[in-house]
Amino acid sequence: MADMDTGMRIGPVSAAPLTVIDRHPPAPDVLAAVRGGLAQQPRQLPAWLLYDRRGSELFAEICRQPEYTLTATELALLRHHAGPLCAGCPAGTLVVEFGAGSVEKVSPLLEALAAPAYLAVDISASALQAVGRRLQAAHPAVPMLGLCADYGTLPDLPLPADWRDRPRLGFFPGSSLGNFDPAEACRFLAGLRPLLGSRGQLLIGIDQPRDPAAIEAAYDDRAGVTAAFELNVLHRLRRELGAEVDPDGFRYRATWEADRSRVAMALVSIGRQRLRLADLEVVFSDGEPLITEYSYKYAPAAFLELAARAGWQGLDRRCDDADGFSVHRLQPLAAAPDCSASAD
Ligand code: AVJ
Repeated sequence: MADMDTGMRIGPVSAAPLTVIDRHPPAPDVLAAVRGGLAQQPRQLPAWLLYDRRGSELFAEICRQPEYTLTATELALLRHHAGPLCAGCPAGTLVVEFGAGSVEKVSPLLEALAAPAYLAVDISASALQAVGRRLQAAHPAVPMLGLCADYGTLPDLPLPADWRDRPRLGFFPGSSLGNFDPAEACRFLAGLRPLLGSRGQLLIGIDQPRDPAAIEAAYDDRAGVTAAFELNVLHRLRRELGAEVDPDGFRYRATWEADRSRVAMALVSIGRQRLRLADLEVVFSDGEPLITEYSYKYAPAAFLELAARAGWQGLDRRCDDADGFSVHRLQPLAAAPDCSASAD
């Protein structure tokens, strides 16, 4: 029951479903992306393919594993520093989040800004619905919209007319930038400038290089949740694209590659085997990896260099006591981006 005068809610709240604009890549585009990745050496699948309904559920479970400290660390930073992190935003700033799934992370921002509106962009419609429901229940006065799309290739933001003139705060938590290689990351950040506008700001969570053993444990938890998450992509290929592939024929492996400052997550072929997809046949040799994702880690200086090439200037950085994770606040630079120097 809602008390209409105060907006206070008593008892269980069931929020209306989130309105979701569907721009998910159509099946032929998914197939084309998979084909392209399988033709590379080493073979690789697009990271966004990991997030079907099951994948999004498993990812939420990864965030609760004791080895994967990233989520809790970032959450604490946002809770403690939401005020200063949002201080530079003018009144009436709306929030655009890239990748949903973090009700608890965005809530302190919505409160600090008294945000008039919220747009969540995510590749998974089911994740958008799950998050939207909980967020709307927690912030019943904030109008919300979901956009189901690959945020890596977003040409514009389909904002309602009365949202369009508002200043925008982009929010890109979880160190998800790490899924892009550095050249892609530069192009992605550069592409956020027109999406967020000249008065826009960006809050971005970045995981930093740390003890290799701790990193590898974070990406290969003892309960096997990460392994199940990465292997789920093969089940998805079978289910959605009709691929012929045996998920039991692969084992999961996470490797910290210090020279590239990244974790390589791969499904390693047990023995020689075939994968068939449409008219394509791929032979995996024994021990051959299929990369499911990379997770690049950036020390603060390295991240700020990348951001500067992408046309963003760091204004503030908040980190945990161990300085292993940062939330950076950025604003657009006057100069145009130049990603040509961002080698992979
Ligand atoms: C969502 C890309 C930030 O790299 O830490 C976590 C993905 N995969 N465990 C990460 C992930 C396995 C995650 N990002």
